[in-house]
Amino acid sequence: MALLFINAGRKYSKVNKNIYGHFSEHLGRGIYNSIYVGENSPIANVRGIRTDVVEALRHIKVPVLRWPGGCFAEYYNWKDGVGPDRQRIVNAGWGGIVEDNSFGTHEFLDLCEQIDCSPYIAANVGSGTPREVSEWIEYMTFSGESPMANWRRQNGRDEPWKIEFFGIGNENWGCGGNMRPEYYADIYKHFETFVRNYDNNKIFRIACGADGSDYKWTETLMRLAGKNMNGLSLHYYTMPKYYETEPYPWENKGPAVGFDKGNYYRTLRRALYIDELIRGHKHVMDQYDPKNEVSIIMDEWGTWHQAEPETNPAFLYQQNTMRDAIVAALSLNIFNTHSDRVHMANLAQMVNVLQSVILTDGEHMVLTPTYHVFDLFKGHQDSTLIESYVQQDMTGTEEASVPALHISASERADGRIHVTVVNLSVDEPQQAHFLLAGKEFSSAEVRFIAGDMNNHNQFGQPPQVEVHSMPDIKVKDNCLHFELPACCVAEIILD
Ligand code: AHR
Repeated sequence: MALLFINAGRKYSKVNKNIYGHFSEHLGRGIYNSIYVGENSPIANVRGIRTDVVEALRHIKVPVLRWPGGCFAEYYNWKDGVGPDRQRIVNAGWGGIVEDNSFGTHEFLDLCEQIDCSPYIAANVGSGTPREVSEWIEYMTFSGESPMANWRRQNGRDEPWKIEFFGIGNENWGCGGNMRPEYYADIYKHFETFVRNYDNNKIFRIACGADGSDYKWTETLMRLAGKNMNGLSLHYYTMPKYYETEPYPWENKGPAVGFDKGNYYRTLRRALYIDELIRGHKHVMDQYDPKNEVSIIMDEWGTWHQAEPETNPAFLYQQNTMRDAIVAALSLNIFNTHSDRVHMANLAQMVNVLQSVILTDGEHMVLTPTYHVFDLFKGHQDSTLIESYVQQDMTGTEEASVPALHISASERADGRIHVTVVNLSVDEPQQAHFLLAGKEFSSAEVRFIAGDMNNHNQFGQPPQVEVHSMPDIKVKDNCLHFELPACCVAEIILD
């Protein structure tokens, strides 16, 4: 039996809703033939944006969406993607295919309005100029008379948009220019000078942060430019085959489906490492910013497996199993527990690329196990983290042992307690005994997903993974007891 303790009386940081954010890049079928089908498509759409996808994203309350990349952002020229004459360019980083720029600034901001989420724009620093950045902001946010604002009006949009989040570069240690941190810190300050707040639009400035455990990058950026930024990004992908200390195994990933138990547990260990990573970066940031004024923006995270057989490997299209769902749940629990510093996270990527919440194939759409995790966790958005912990055993293999259970809990604005708990064991259900404190509870609702680690949802077939409810869970003497199935993510709402 595992004991789980939840104390509504001990409150910590606010869980920023933007921890539940997403990322969409011009990469493979991440935008075209998925989110954006064009106005003339037989697939139901509003101004070219797929209706079923938008509805599914609204259901999980996507709070913020990052665009247009990724590495794509670092060769993107925003002027190619506005007005009636769109430039056809080569998408050099992702398969060398034609990018027709039919999805540009207006379409992206329309998508955000349809989903009802905040836009997070990633600007080109690696091959762009401060002028392009400043003109893009003027184009999007200035209400008065100016060349860019007038051009926006000519292109059909009178009112400026609100742009809250603006990233100054992407992976400038790699695809964004292979820069040293000292060099990027200077470039960052140079570009940031031209990021202006027009009217009442206030921009939250995000600097390019480290790749995984590159603490030197964080230290240098905080020291040289910490006062000029609101957020510092962090990228970490979960790949099963390697351990924390090893570099990314770009050329040697495992399959998204059809993996074995050893691979499953190694993946989960890699996912749990995010906790150590965040602690490490927080520790460095605390030295320069003890008041927590600079946020960690985990703007790329998720699993990265081999591309599906018979798909273009440059398109990074992968299936999504219960293993991915467990990784998502562990990651989100960890972000919740670090919500004093982690104020945004963006899963890579929303549709048809890497750890997607939605897969599409022509008119068909499936919701992945990861989608359901975001559904089960959405109650944490803008809640207050409360104390929770688990007394338990370890599980896994000799090579990769992991805790059997993983938890986070928060108090929602409506006073209800939202708990998310993961059973990492691939084959052992857990008798979970919850001790509740801090107030009297009388009822509990439990929803969950569970299944074989390789279970996934496929086009034209009944879903193998979907959300179920547990009937008749009673709270007695402030205790709650039920069996958590193996390989399971559950949401508990306590009243
Ligand atoms: O998400 C795919 C790629 O991974 C992004 O373009 C890049 O930022 C990262 O290396």
